[in-house]
Amino acid sequence: MDWNDRFAASGPGEPGPPSVLVGREDLVPTTGRALDVACGRGTVAVWLAQRGLVVDALDAAPAGLALGRAAADAAAVTVHWIEADLDEGLPVTGGYDVVVCQRFRDPALYPALAGVLAPGGLLVVTVLSVVGDAGGRFRAEPGELRGAFADLDVLVDEEGGGEAHLVARLD
Ligand SMILES: C[S@@+](CC[C@H](N)C(=O)[O-])C[C@H]1O[C@@H](n2cnc3c(N)ncnc32)[C@H](O)[C@@H]1O
Repeated sequence: MDWNDRFAASGPGEPGPPSVLVGREDLVPTTGRALDVACGRGTVAVWLAQRGLVVDALDAAPAGLALGRAAADAAAVTVHWIEADLDEGLPVTGGYDVVVCQRFRDPALYPALAGVLAPGGLLVVTVLSVVGDAGGRFRAEPGELRGAFADLDVLVDEEGGGEAHLVARLD
């Protein structure tokens, strides 16, 4: 089943922070620009807009973006939705105060994620991990995120339960 079919079957989600930031919401600024990469149904993008950020959100699945638009309308916030295939690279330029990439893993994209951060910008990444999981395709090896973003100031580095999370800031 592809992502469009999944989204069509799932309906909209509730706006909310990236899972690694639950209880750490204060790390996220309330002004500036945010980017949600592979935003899916846009639940994080809408939450970022509710928090006060100017948000770009991109995904390849039109059905996910449509659910995001509906959620943004319901929340009376504006998000700039971008349909894009990340296999062709990140189609935006820099200056983001927050960059989120949650549950989409493409190691070739890691330099671009760091590259679009504004000075002081916050990067929030969650990927599937082999740590605490039986394994399978598309999972990060131990230490993958820490190694990829070693030039950033790492605030949170967690692996377990089949996921790896990194929260880091560009000094
Ligand atoms: C597991 S979902 C995560 C969605 C969202 N970030 C979240 O945490 O709820 C993975 C997302 O990646 C998107 N995706 C997969 N391959 C993609 C690609 N090549 N370009 C853009 N988006 C892609 C899918 O459409 C889907 O929305």
